[in-house]
Amino acid sequence: MADKLIIFDTTLRDGEQSPGASMTKDEKLRIARQLERLRVDVIEAGFAASSNGDFEAVKSIADHVSESIVCSLARANDRDIGRAAEALAGALARGSGARIHTFIATSELHMAAKLRMTREQVLEQARLAVRFARNLCSDVEFSPEDGYRSDPDFLCQVLEAVIDEGAGTINIPDTVGYAVPELFGDFIRRLRERVPNSERAIWSVHCHNDLGMAVANSLAGVKVGGARQVECTINGLGERAGNCSLEEVVMAVRTRRDHYGLEVGIDTTQIVPASRMVSQTTGFVVQPNKAVVGANAFAHASGIHQDGVLKARDTYEIMRAEDVGWSANKIVLGKLSGRNAFRQRLHELGIEMDSEAEVNAAFARFKDLADRKSEIFDEDIIALVGDESVTAEQEHYRLLSLAQHSETGERPHAKVAFAAGSAEFHAESDGNGPVDASLKAIESKVRSGAELMLYSVNAITSGSTESQGEVTVRLQLGGRVVNGVGADPDIVVASAKAYLSALNKLHSATDRVAAQGWP
Ligand code: KIV
Ligand code: ZN
Repeated sequence: MADKLIIFDTTLRDGEQSPGASMTKDEKLRIARQLERLRVDVIEAGFAASSNGDFEAVKSIADHVSESIVCSLARANDRDIGRAAEALAGALARGSGARIHTFIATSELHMAAKLRMTREQVLEQARLAVRFARNLCSDVEFSPEDGYRSDPDFLCQVLEAVIDEGAGTINIPDTVGYAVPELFGDFIRRLRERVPNSERAIWSVHCHNDLGMAVANSLAGVKVGGARQVECTINGLGERAGNCSLEEVVMAVRTRRDHYGLEVGIDTTQIVPASRMVSQTTGFVVQPNKAVVGANAFAHASGIHQDGVLKARDTYEIMRAEDVGWSANKIVLGKLSGRNAFRQRLHELGIEMDSEAEVNAAFARFKDLADRKSEIFDEDIIALVGDESVTAEQEHYRLLSLAQHSETGERPHAKVAFAAGSAEFHAESDGNGPVDASLKAIESKVRSGAELMLYSVNAITSGSTESQGEVTVRLQLGGRVVNGVGADPDIVVASAKAYLSALNKLHSATDRVAAQGWP
């Protein structure tokens, strides 16, 4: 039987580190459940010691996810590792579903400039950290941060020591995306050859995409280096240029099984739903020409290609769209559909709701949408449920109504009514356009002072002006960057919803300080 390639997803930890991609606990749990449906082997749920919010998110995922191993990152110290174990308690109690991932930098630059530690101190701290983690959890992973730029002799010393202490997975990060495939594959191979106890660990690679080579480097780490775990994120989400993209690595190994000779346990039909969920939650739009999950990934525009595909599919297609979860824009429900049909469709889409009250609230939104839009597609339902995943506590601001007037040659005017907790506000403003007028009206009451960093509109379903518009608004306030997403057939309404959703994030419990004085 072919060797297995372990897929370690870090969308919720390294992916979330991307400015603006921060997610609430409920959003993370929703994505974790989708990752579980995707059958990823390991979900890195967060960095438990980094904040109370992250601790709660890791804990909630460890309490609810049982089909994938749930992992928390921890710096190489007792406090971080203890917090990780505490957050993972639910999974630890179940037996084998928890992992502690501890790390410390090993490159000269990071040790001197960042840690201000000597080689001896770093070696000792790595050893003690893994020893401590192994007392709390049988599954421990160790990463030498900036491993690829570390001195190989020193790196081998550290890796041998942590394997002796019981680290079962050794992950080599290319933290700054400096590697190139031929060199990286060889680097991993030589480490495995030189570390005397290397056979006692599974080797893993973790590549960043600064030179656009994260996927190529990861695959070289697998093929040339013998790594059997790849760390990756949905849509390649991550700091700067992002991380290795899960969908690309998985489909490369699947499609070129002849070359890699490896099995992956992923249910590939869940890839596109996962990509959409991450994109809708974070507001990070997927570029149309992105491999596997981009809107054009399976679109054949040229006549020659279309003709070829119609005659024999594999003339121009190496993968089937439906195998990665693309479904034709099917009309799934309409105005006359009842609660049972709606519930059934949620089930088919793999969307679990925690309570009957949640189903009812989502159904009410569905009916409201169906009154205004004759054909409801799967994508509409996913967006609608995305709106629904915001809990009452986070939804401090809610749009009540919006009216806007714009005539050619005249300055547009908007009137907006919104709720802030139990209070109701009515605001109006002019603006350069109806969207500008609506956001200015809201801001005239909230006075958040947040800076608008990004505004983008996308059609949820392609090919029709009947589609709902999905708007992403990115706000920055006091060093914190948040994204708000809103969907509606009217893009001005979608924009107001997105703006209020971003304000809700700034206003959420952890950010009360930033939001002081707001209504
Ligand atoms: O890029 C990196 O070095 C990391 C480690 C913490 C694994 O994310
Ligand atoms: Zn990383």
